[in-house]
Amino acid sequence: MLSNSPIVNQYVDRTPASQALAAQAGKHFPSAITHDSRHTTPYGIYVEKAKGSRKWDADGNNYVDYFGGHGALMLGHRNEEVEVCIQEALAAGTHFGSSHKYEVAWAGAVQNLMPSAERIRFTASGTEATLLAMRLARAFTGKNRIARFRTHFHGWHDHMAFGVANHFDGTATPGVLPEVAAQVTLLDPNDIDAVAQALEDDKEIAAIILEPTGGGGGMVPLVPDFVVQLRELTERHGVLLILDEVVTGFRVHPGGAQGLFGVTPDLSTLAKILAGGLPGGAVVGRQDILERLDFKSAADKAFEKIHHPGTFNANPLSAAAGTKTLEIIANTDACAKAAAFGAEVRQKLNESFARAGIAWAAYGEQANFFIFMNSADLKIDPLEFDPLSMPYEDLKGKPAGLLNKLRLALLIGGVDISGSGGGVISATHDDDDLAQTVAAFEGALEMLRAEESLPKL
Ligand SMILES: Cc1ncc(COP(=O)(O)O)c(C=O)c1O
Repeated sequence: MLSNSPIVNQYVDRTPASQALAAQAGKHFPSAITHDSRHTTPYGIYVEKAKGSRKWDADGNNYVDYFGGHGALMLGHRNEEVEVCIQEALAAGTHFGSSHKYEVAWAGAVQNLMPSAERIRFTASGTEATLLAMRLARAFTGKNRIARFRTHFHGWHDHMAFGVANHFDGTATPGVLPEVAAQVTLLDPNDIDAVAQALEDDKEIAAIILEPTGGGGGMVPLVPDFVVQLRELTERHGVLLILDEVVTGFRVHPGGAQGLFGVTPDLSTLAKILAGGLPGGAVVGRQDILERLDFKSAADKAFEKIHHPGTFNANPLSAAAGTKTLEIIANTDACAKAAAFGAEVRQKLNESFARAGIAWAAYGEQANFFIFMNSADLKIDPLEFDPLSMPYEDLKGKPAGLLNKLRLALLIGGVDISGSGGGVISATHDDDDLAQTVAAFEGALEMLRAEESLPKL
């Protein structure tokens, strides 16, 4: 069916095999997808293979990939050393139902990069990691409330499923227990006085959890020193500090955001890069807190142990992939390389926006970029854009229809940005990718300008 948008029509013309798969998927899945951030209208691309910074769809179209396995692929797709380790582990068996050497090596690789990880408990995902961190914090402190920040994402379990993209008043989203939501205190990011007041007023707060570079992996950035100030405050009030390093862990610095900022949290949650492109997560941190999972300590000290099973905790394939990935990150300039590409792509995109006279901006830190789409039509200079001067609603709330069209227009130009309008960068992105990205953006701006109204400089 012909759309009245030339962008949509051109996209559909290029992607008949994806369209056919999407039609079948519609018979199986709500919205024909298996992860909300893949929601694309009329349908998203179906990918058949990937290598390094690139992926190929079912029609053979080639893309610079900025999904990066939802942030898991710091070394790009199919790193050869990681692949060898996965194959070796695979040949030995996928699940022993027993302890194994791979998990011990994996734990060592984590501790080598993250000294705060005195003890580790592997989980199967980041969501499981933040859920277990909540439980550990409550059991350890004997307090019930958890504080977290508006726009910060920590997975999708009941404690975390509001105040991220909506329900900023702390009310529960559909299906979430209001009783659980009522045990969560939502705070405004970057307002250290409000945090101090909350800790003063409410002695039931067990822990504060945050994304250390800001909500959405830095889409809503934090002011410099906020994390350092939080560490001082939480220490003073006897409240645990949990850094959710599911995104930042081993991306923003080999030691995570805690390595970058020089802050030692009580607990950290990890996933994504941790498992080298396969599923996996972990809670790591102080020995006396993780002790709540320890049989002997519970018996010796007469406390009730936290029960924590999990069929795929530390599965051998994830352990092997994660160990090699973390070794490579420790021994190479992978993080610095990806961050250098990030700085370049942000600068080049801002030059393109300025040349085109469009009041958008690319911003971010280290190995990512975000596009500010300026729904409120504010006067901004792309080359001087400061996201810290913007309300979080403006950074987070992108015009959904326009973002969807931008993504389609970029796909036509051979670039796949993330569903939230940004990019995750790996150590394999190179000069060709940069040139293709800038050309695709410039082409997309032209196409969009012909059919949408864009904010002007
Ligand atoms: C900061 C953060 N925490 C937790 C999670 C949840 O991790 P998972 O998707 O592995 O459950 C995510 C996922 O994107 C995340 O970005």
